[in-house]
Parts: sequence; structure tokens; C-alpha cells
Amino acid sequence: MSTATLTPFKLGPASGASAALAAPGAATHQAVHIDLGDRSYPILVGPALLDNPATFAQCPQAAQALIVTNTTVSPMYAQCLLQAISPLYKQVHVLALPDGEAYKDGATLNLIYDQLLGSTADRKTVLYALGGGVVGDMTGFAAACYMRGVPFVQVPTTLLAQVDSSVGGKTAINHPLGKNMIGAFYQPQLVVCDLDTLNTLPVRELSAGLAEIIKYGPIADMAFLDWIETNLPALLARDPQALATAVRRSCEIKAWVVGQDEKEGGIRAILNYGHTFGHAIEAGLGYGEWLHGEGVGCGMVMASHLSQRMGWVDEAFVQRITRLVKAAGLPTVGPDLGAERYLALMRGDKKSEGGDIKFVLIGNGPLSAGGSGPGTATTQSAPEALVREVLAACTQSAA
Ligand SMILES: NC(=O)c1ccc[n+]([C@@H]2O[C@H](COP(=O)([O-])OP(=O)(O)OC[C@H]3O[C@@H](n4cnc5c(N)ncnc54)[C@H](O)[C@@H]3O)[C@@H](O)[C@H]2O)c1
Ligand SMILES: [Zn+2]
Repeated sequence: MSTATLTPFKLGPASGASAALAAPGAATHQAVHIDLGDRSYPILVGPALLDNPATFAQCPQAAQALIVTNTTVSPMYAQCLLQAISPLYKQVHVLALPDGEAYKDGATLNLIYDQLLGSTADRKTVLYALGGGVVGDMTGFAAACYMRGVPFVQVPTTLLAQVDSSVGGKTAINHPLGKNMIGAFYQPQLVVCDLDTLNTLPVRELSAGLAEIIKYGPIADMAFLDWIETNLPALLARDPQALATAVRRSCEIKAWVVGQDEKEGGIRAILNYGHTFGHAIEAGLGYGEWLHGEGVGCGMVMASHLSQRMGWVDEAFVQRITRLVKAAGLPTVGPDLGAERYLALMRGDKKSEGGDIKFVLIGNGPLSAGGSGPGTATTQSAPEALVREVLAACTQSAA
């Protein structure tokens, strides 16, 4: 476990755990280091990384590699990646899975094993996950299980995957009875965030990724929240410098949290700010109706209201988060599922213990008792009456 303190937020290339690097022949990029002992790895952030062989020079060599992607991403980026990594392997195969959360299941996972076994892949074969969080989670889980573990590399191509899902080693598939319920902690060898891939991302997916970026401010770094507010128009316009700063800082904060608590025994749970309400919305409407990031955006508003009702933050903070989430193109009012359904869904959340719902609240206790307010977060249960008040105030039934 690392006890390192989070380096202060800085514009441009970071120092300390992060440093500016220039791979031969590449535009300048930054590297964030995630410190997990012998499972440590770098996260590269910058333009023009995907098609540059130098990006992958330190990856494990083997007879074979398999690029796992999906039918949407494959025509855009699979050939570039294949050419960049081909010096390292005798054979590189590409497997394009069907696109969508609905395919993050056991049957689709088997397609990866079919491909690996069909091409007599051995235990040194390296898997490359090229795509969003769905491809990343499935490929990581396949890598954890194939021959009890083969190396894998994350090449995230959505904003959400670059700032969150590709970092930290959570891998999973869905089960008909629950999302991400079958999985493993399994760290990649390298994460490559090529910012150029974000240029083809649909605008709704861009906003979904912004939700996970916004979450890092209130839980860990209010200077970063200030920066996001100022730079939101640039982020929405996909300004390369703004995206580079946002992705790099998000990865630094995630690396800092995961470095202290790799398997979510404690502090890692703060990364779920907004997720208890958000998951209930996603599940309640049926997966795919709202994107994960949309649920998280609205969930952060709801969790902030709950923090205020607990006396942990003031009204101004709730207004601030609501304004920012809305400006990012995300919903701030939950659908009308009814309070009982919300409560039932939240009791089934992975963080719940014995039916006791755990929320990520902003702060560490009542302001009146010296609580720290925004910039820290605590996982905590809350009086049901207050949760019901929040549901009444923040869902469509309130209108
Ligand atoms: N492992 C973790 O720690 C973690 C954290 C957060 C979320 N997740 C998981 O991540 C998943 C969501 O990830 P996501 O938001 O990336 O969704 P996604 O993987 O479904 O990607 C969203 C859409 O964008 C398309 N796409 C991807 N890259 C593109 C590009 N560059 N240009 C154009 N289209 C592109 C995809 O094909 C897909 O249609 C969920 O399954 C969630 O459970 C995991
Ligand atoms: Zn999330």
C-alpha cells in the first residue's frame, strides 16, 4: 500500500509521479505512474500514440498478440494499432466483438477464448484491449482467466475509459442478475490514452466521460474542479490541450486512490461518488437507456443534495455541482422510478452491506462539527428519511 500524498494540481506536464516524455518520433506525451509494487505500470497520455511503435516498445514480447476490439472501433483504429505492435510479435490477430453493453456477457467473452484456443495462443500471448470500457473490462477479464493469466495492455478510445475504466485493474462481465458481478482485479502492463481517438467519439459519449472527470474534483481536488469549470467549453470543443490536462489529472487522482487501496477495502470506494444513485437509474430504466456517465452525472447531483441534508456541504456547493453537470450536457433530474424502486435497487448495490445502503458523501462530517467539506469524500450510510427527501427533490416525480 502506498501512502503517498496526491501531488498538487498543475497545468501542463506534471512532476513527481508524472513526467513529460517524448517517445522517439512521437509528439510529446505525459506519463502517469501507478504504484502497485510489482504490478505497477505507466499510463501514457498524448496525441499520436496509437500508431507509433515506440509507444509499445516496452510491452512484453511473445509469439502472438490478440487485439480485442468491437465492430465500431475496429475499422477506425485496429489497423493502426496492428502495424504499431507488429514488430513485437510473429502473429497479431484482431477480434471484433459486437458493440454494446448488452454483449458484455459470458457468451461474448467465450468468443475471445475461442479465438485464443483456435490460434493455439500460449500463456505469453499478449491481449490488447482497443475500445471503450466494455471492451476493456471484457478483455481484462479474459486476460485474467486465459491459462490463469496472460499479460494485457489497455488502449482506451472513449473519454470514460481513458479517465476511469482502463486504470486500476477492475475487470468484469455482466450477469443477467447483475452488472459487473463476474470479474477479477487484474492489472494491465500499460495504458495508452491516445487523445486523437476522442475526435471520432459521439458527443453524448464525450459528455458521459466528463461526468467521471467532474467526480474527481469534489472527492479529492477542488483546484481541479475550479479548472474544469473554467475549461468546460474547451473540453466540449475537444481542445487537445484541455483534454490532455483533464485526462492526465484524472489518471493521477485515480492512480493515487488505487495505489492506496487496490482491491477496494476502503478509500477506493470514494471513486463511486454519484454511482449509488446512478446505478439505480441505469438499472431501473433498463441498461442502455441512460449511459453510465449520464447516471453518474445525475447521481452526483443527488449525492450532493444528500450531503447537504446531512449538513456536510452547503447549498452553494450543491448549486455549483448542478450547474457544472448540466453545462457538461448531462441530466440533473432523475427519472420517476418511485422511491421504493430506487431504494430497492440501491440496496442491491455492491457497496451495500446487509441491505444497508452506502453512499459516497462529500466531506467527512457535519460542517457544524468542523467537517472538511468538498475536496474529501466518505462512504457512509444515511437516514432513510433524508434519502427519501433527496428522491422527492431530485427526480421527475418532484415536478
Ligand atoms: N473497470 C472499471 O473500473 C470501470 C469503470 C467505469 C466504467 N466501467 C465500465 O465501462 C463501460 C462503459 O464504458 P464506455 O463509456 O467507454 O462505453 P463503451 O465501451 O460502450 O463505448 C461507448 C460507445 O463508443 C464507441 N466508441 C469507442 N471508442 C470510440 C471512438 N474513438 N470513436 C467512436 N466511437 C467509439 C463504442 O463502440 C460504443 O458504441 C461499462 O460497461 C462500465 O461498467 C468500468
Ligand atoms: Zn463510473
